[in-house]
Amino acid sequence: MVFLHVNVDHVATVRQARRTIEPDPVVAATLVELAGAHGITIHLREDRRHILDRDVHILRKIIQTRLNLEIAATAEMFGIALEVKPDIVMLVPELREEITTEGGLDAAGASGVMKEGIRKLKGAGIRVSLFIDPDSQQIEASQMLGAEVVELHTGSYANANAPENIEQELARLHQAALKSHEVGLQVNAGHGLNYHNTRQICQLPHLRELHIGHSIISRSVFTGISEAVREMLKVIRDATPQS
Ligand code: PXP
Repeated sequence: MVFLHVNVDHVATVRQARRTIEPDPVVAATLVELAGAHGITIHLREDRRHILDRDVHILRKIIQTRLNLEIAATAEMFGIALEVKPDIVMLVPELREEITTEGGLDAAGASGVMKEGIRKLKGAGIRVSLFIDPDSQQIEASQMLGAEVVELHTGSYANANAPENIEQELARLHQAALKSHEVGLQVNAGHGLNYHNTRQICQLPHLRELHIGHSIISRSVFTGISEAVREMLKVIRDATPQS
């Protein structure tokens, strides 16, 4: 079974376009859960461009499934995560100029702040996931850092157009999934996944969770969020090999 975790940042992006109170990502998260998703993902960015501190605190109180908090590896963000205690903290690289998270985390070049932050999170009983490119050096480094989970960045796969490039990216992800499992890491994947390209990702060995945001929230504009979640759940269910 591959679990679907829905990223509701994009609802907050619409709200912040007007700096108003709607649409509320908290309401979205509740509906996403009711539609059958297995978890909610939010990224509290340093510039607070979409998710706000208020969202994080309310969601921590009301989410019944699992709350995944994405943060950059900074002292401020580690402090918030330790206070909020989400079910899992996903460390991601963050650049102010980027539109969305572009590359994977450099686990191999982890700073002292990152190492210390991971140690404290684990000490507080919070699972740690690192969002990395499908690269064996980064996988080994993630394991050395004490992460229990890696989220393999599917952005290059999602952006590939030519069939040979798609195959090449899938092969990289396949190798990375095998390697991650071999060193004891839970295998998650995400970024740029939609109702078409998710099918092949569901074939990755040892895949546990998908984290999907933009395509589901985009579809929800036309279908409503509950239907958009149910349709993605069906895509995943139909494409996942039965074990
Ligand atoms: N996983 C991580 C670590 C992300 O940063 C994002 C985007 O915020 C996603 C998954 C979801 O990506 P998308 O919105 O392209 O589905």
